[in-house]
Amino acid sequence: MSQYIPQITSHSLADKVVLITGGANGIGASLVQDCLEKGANVCFGDLDNVEGERLLNKTRERFPPVENGPARVVFQPTDVTNYQSVLSLFDLAFETYKRIDHVVSAAGIVEIGNWFDFGLTLDSVRETPTSKVLDVNLLGTMYVARIASVYLRHNRGPGTDRSILLFSCVSGFKESPSLFVYQASKHGVLGLMRSLRSYISSPYKHCIRINTIAPWITETDSVKKIQHKWKEASLPTNTPQEVSHIAAGMLADRSLNGKSMFVEGGRAWETEENVERLESHWLGEEPSKALAAGQEFLDDGSIWTAKPRQRSSISKQNGIFNGPKKSFSKGDFTPVANGVH
Ligand SMILES: NC(=O)c1ccc[n+]([C@@H]2O[C@H](COP(=O)([O-])OP(=O)(O)OC[C@H]3O[C@@H](n4cnc5c(N)ncnc54)[C@H](O)[C@@H]3O)[C@@H](O)[C@H]2O)c1
Repeated sequence: MSQYIPQITSHSLADKVVLITGGANGIGASLVQDCLEKGANVCFGDLDNVEGERLLNKTRERFPPVENGPARVVFQPTDVTNYQSVLSLFDLAFETYKRIDHVVSAAGIVEIGNWFDFGLTLDSVRETPTSKVLDVNLLGTMYVARIASVYLRHNRGPGTDRSILLFSCVSGFKESPSLFVYQASKHGVLGLMRSLRSYISSPYKHCIRINTIAPWITETDSVKKIQHKWKEASLPTNTPQEVSHIAAGMLADRSLNGKSMFVEGGRAWETEENVERLESHWLGEEPSKALAAGQEFLDDGSIWTAKPRQRSSISKQNGIFNGPKKSFSKGDFTPVANGVH
């Protein structure tokens, strides 16, 4: 596995516009500050409006606007499980800065209760369990990625780099007993990145890079419960700053697409390359060959998404054209054919 050492300077994100969800606390909050320090303008959203406002005031003092420019940082209360709320955060960034360069989906929560409690009975199992962890970690991330795939295509100059970074976790690739829903959600995030990485980066389509970051235990509120014992066992711990440093590096590094960085003890290790490279070892040569043939046949996957001929009246009845109500004036967007300049 190869170590990833971010090559990042104080100007690496100069004039870039970065949108971050889950930016009020923990790793997200550290990334807000990191991006500002590296020269970016930042728009962040979070459910926690108290800490969000606090960080906004603190960072506005530290990073005043440049000449007559807009504020370097803006914040809006956001619930990533609400599509319109996510959309509204993108609108804020777009209206303030007229473009968005990088998007980070950092909002996340840990396991709630025990979905597979051994104490469940024929009675108690009748109660519908909460899907909140899946909603925040996976559905929220999918909302962010979907909206980003459209906004990032607009107002870009020739050769402009654009990217999306999704927060997965060690649980996104390694067995994590008791974190049943959390693990499924973080596997889902990695899966989303894998399904998008060739499609969304295609120069004939969106031309956007997409990557994931998979931190191990990082000193934030979300792991308070185990942090003490973890440290006593002398296991590697990340600080939020170490993880955000890697994340900022991934935003700035235009060579990265379709990668995932496992972060432990402040160090990052790329995991996707070896999964591909060593497939014939862990899967076996024969099934690996069969898989390769199937993959070649499926190619870019358009066979799945090709639209059957459809009567337009039916589509309308089904609400397929129910887009967001907000519309930008013509001057706001520079739309591009196939998303490419
Ligand atoms: N801390 C770790 O050890 C660790 C390890 C692996 C992955 N991660 C991932 O890193 C990311 C950041 O985690 P963290 O440790 O900084 O946690 P944190 O709890 O400190 O921060 C998460 C932020 O997400 C926000 N949030 C929660 N639900 C939201 C919603 N519905 N809409 C908008 N915002 C919402 C919270 O208010 C909080 O500000 C998460 O995706 C987490 O799963 C963390």
